[in-house]
Amino acid sequence: MTRPLPRLGLGTWQMGDDPARRAYEVAALRAGLDLGLSMIDTAEYYGHGRSEGVVADAIAGRRDEVFLVTKVMPRNATRRGAAAACERSLRHLRTDRVDLYLVHWREDVPLEETVAAMEGLREAGKCVSWGVSNFDVHDMEDTFAAPGGARCAANQVYYNLLHRGIERRLVPWCARRGVAVMAYTPVESGRLPVRPSLAAAAERHGVTPFAAAVAWTMRDPGVVTIVKSGRADRVREYAASLRVRFDEAELSALDRDYPAPTRDVPLETV
Ligand SMILES: NC(=O)c1ccc[n+]([C@@H]2O[C@H](COP(=O)([O-])OP(=O)(O)OC[C@H]3O[C@@H](n4cnc5c(N)ncnc54)[C@H](OP(=O)(O)O)[C@@H]3O)[C@@H](O)[C@H]2O)c1
Repeated sequence: MTRPLPRLGLGTWQMGDDPARRAYEVAALRAGLDLGLSMIDTAEYYGHGRSEGVVADAIAGRRDEVFLVTKVMPRNATRRGAAAACERSLRHLRTDRVDLYLVHWREDVPLEETVAAMEGLREAGKCVSWGVSNFDVHDMEDTFAAPGGARCAANQVYYNLLHRGIERRLVPWCARRGVAVMAYTPVESGRLPVRPSLAAAAERHGVTPFAAAVAWTMRDPGVVTIVKSGRADRVREYAASLRVRFDEAELSALDRDYPAPTRDVPLETV
């Protein structure tokens, strides 16, 4: 049965790349599970399955607590390619199903074939639901035009205080159709500038500025967020963002310091 997406999850990009960091990464993901951050996001692309291996270690014995997300490479998003890629990911993850299987980005495989492949995996129970990533409004329209495409459950996209273009058309489009928006890179890979409004809001809510920035991405109920840290202390910091609710004055101040674009911009990616 499809479960609602948890509001905040942990990313795993670059996990597994450095063997010396692996134990810390596993511990960070486990700390997240202990704090109720049950969504874990990975991809076959991340370290050619090495990130999925770290996730497998972290969720060992705890699979039912986890909302597990992985992604298929665009060139594998064909009927046969997706079936094989999904089996590989399940093997790396040491599980029999993922909760959400995403098309990592769009390339030239026809979307009708990709949607049919994802629907086939859903019907076979290999994924509970499926979605896309890095899809702009026109890509979503094409997805929904394909037979079965309206079952697309989520679109994972770049979103943070510095990159707000999706607020104009993509977020409302997804909201109208019940597609969850999953924000990635919410703290700009650790490089988000902390401007006065963010520092002030963080202090008022008793969280760090980066935790406040994560909370800001989740202020719209249609947006869930994936943040990454290979350190348990930072994971604890981010878990605190779930209790932050900004008031209108704080949101206006953040709008002044981190303005949204005033015209439509193409979807940005990292
Ligand atoms: N679908 C896609 O195309 C796509 C693209 C990008 C990302 N994603 C997913 O979204 C997840 C999150 O995005 P992200 O990893 O790009 O970026 P992010 O969550 O904005 O930032 C993560 C990076 O910032 C560092 N960091 C975190 N907190 C910090 C702090 N308080 N001070 C300094 N540095 C800090 C982390 O290092 P430490 O680990 O050392 O803490 C890590 O290198 C990814 O891991 C991945 O699962 C998906």
